[in-house]
Amino acid sequence: MRKKVLAANWKMNLLRNEALDLYSNLDLALLNFQEIETVLFPPSIYISELQTKGNLSLGIQNIYFENKGAYTGEIAAAQAKSIGCTYVLIGHSERRELFLESDDLLKKKVNSALAENLKIIFSCGESLEVRTKKDHLSFVKKQLENSLFHLSEKEILNCIIAYEPIWAIGSGLNASEQQAEEMHSEIRYLLAENYSNKISEQISIIYGGSCNTSNAAQLFACPNVDGALVGGASLDKFSFIELAARLK
Ligand code: 13P
Repeated sequence: MRKKVLAANWKMNLLRNEALDLYSNLDLALLNFQEIETVLFPPSIYISELQTKGNLSLGIQNIYFENKGAYTGEIAAAQAKSIGCTYVLIGHSERRELFLESDDLLKKKVNSALAENLKIIFSCGESLEVRTKKDHLSFVKKQLENSLFHLSEKEILNCIIAYEPIWAIGSGLNASEQQAEEMHSEIRYLLAENYSNKISEQISIIYGGSCNTSNAAQLFACPNVDGALVGGASLDKFSFIELAARLK
């Protein structure tokens, strides 16, 4: 059985005291949901003040692909690991669009993360323009082929795939159950095609994009939606805990 995953991407939000406060309100509450894997992606400068506990893991929002050296401002996978991260987020559309991260660069980050035994949440998803042209399935397929499907069976099992349509992120307009299920089942099919049915059934595929307490129950009811990667609603302790309760 694949695991249910609820991940919080705090992005570039919260001052230190706010982040510590939110964490201290979540860590004990989330222990009540042992059947779910929960992952927090705080701004990296706060991570060493937080702890992995029980079913609560910490992740870093970004890494660079080189191991060390003269790369001012960047953070290596091994450094993230050394402050307690078990996950890294790779392929988020904000990194792709605002920081011009290419499929090729993302592939290098994927390789670097796995070399340091970091697990990956790999984000993919299309723009509204692509969806309007009905090219969304082939677009996401290419993203996965270009940055993820070179991995071995053993390596891909350390990845979670997050489908995050760009038009749904921060817009208040989530994908419908039909839209989410269509893409998630396609991704599962691609995993089966590139690896095997057995592998495909083991990999969690989570949804991101305006997921909140009003729409989570419908999204989580989709057979191929194994959880969520949450932005805005993860900044409120009550919302995030309620999302965990919905996923349980
Ligand atoms: P929102 O939940 O704010 O739409 O953000 C989703 C997201 O980008 C998570 O990575």
